[in-house]
Formats: sequence, C-alpha cells, structure tokens
Amino acid sequence: MAQLSILEFPDPRLRTHAKPVRDFDAALQQLIADMFETMYAAPGIGLAATQVNIHKALLVMDTSQEKNQPHVYINPEIIARDGLEVSEEGCLSVPSVFEEVQRAARVRVRAQNVDGSPFERDLEGLEAVCLQHEIDHLAGKLFVDYLSSLKRDRIRRKLEKERRERAEGGAAAGAAAARAASEHSSGRAAARVI
Ligand code: NI
Repeated sequence: MAQLSILEFPDPRLRTHAKPVRDFDAALQQLIADMFETMYAAPGIGLAATQVNIHKALLVMDTSQEKNQPHVYINPEIIARDGLEVSEEGCLSVPSVFEEVQRAARVRVRAQNVDGSPFERDLEGLEAVCLQHEIDHLAGKLFVDYLSSLKRDRIRRKLEKERRERAEGGAAAGAAAARAASEHSSGRAAARVI
C-alpha cells in the first residue's frame, strides 16, 4: 500500500483524457488499493485516477459517514440522468475551494468492477454528485470549469500564491497552511471534497 501524490489545479496533466481499462490484473488491484488509501488519508470522498496522474478510466468513492462503503467504478459511463440539483463541491485537486455546481440529481451508471464484470447502479444525492464530479476528472474536466472565467482565474491565482508561500517558507506560509488545514478538516467542508 502506498499513498499517491495528488495533482493540483492548474496542472495541465489534470486535463488528460483517461484511456479505458483493459487489463483486470494484480497491478489494477494494487492501484485501486493505493487510490483508496490516498482518498481516505486526504481526506476525501472520491478520487479519480487522473488526479494521481494515472490516465486510466477508474475512480473510487466512499460517501458514507463511517468510511466503510468503498465503491470502485471502472470504465464508468452515465447512461441516464434525471432532475437538476445545485450543491457545494470541493476537490482534492483544488484545495480549500468550495463552490456551488449544478448537476443531475439522479444518475444511472454502467461500469465494471475489479474483476471486469459489468454492473449498473442508480445513484442520488451526494453519491450522484460525487460520481459526476469524478467522471468529469476522467475527461480532463474540473468543477471550477463550471464557474465564470473570472472566478476560475481568481482561484488559480490564490492557489499559485499559496503554493509559492509554501515553497518560500516563513510566517505567511505557516498561516496559509494552517488556514487551509482548518478549512479542510471542518466537517462540512471535508464531506464535500471529491
Ligand atoms: Ni475532484
């Protein structure tokens, strides 16, 4: 098991389109285990392979309070959607940013599990939001793409400034890191980091 490092906006590698998974082998199982470990440690409720710089079509999720309902979706595809809902989202690749996004309220997904067998599931609420967000990642899309370009630029500058401060060290970096950490660990926020 190993924790993987997560790419952060505006890293151009987050724009890569994932390729279908063809080999359901031991390496895939290891990758899935590492992705769960990375997601739970972050902490987040969903993680797409794109975010750890692996450009294969798979994602992991666990939206349960107890963190005991892991789900893997390999080669996922939304085959039906219904209704619209606006909810607040965050993303492990866009740290400490939370914005409202409109998505389908209910979706039906077709995917494969770890041994390659196909399944379909109906999702709603947070699970539906999370799945749509992760499938976007596999297509190189981020939740900030739904915002105005003005807002997206502001977020990019904020993240670049925080990264610069972290790299330079000093009091400002400490303060920024502490702020980000406290935002991250607040229950409401953490529940939405996908
Ligand atoms: Ni995300």
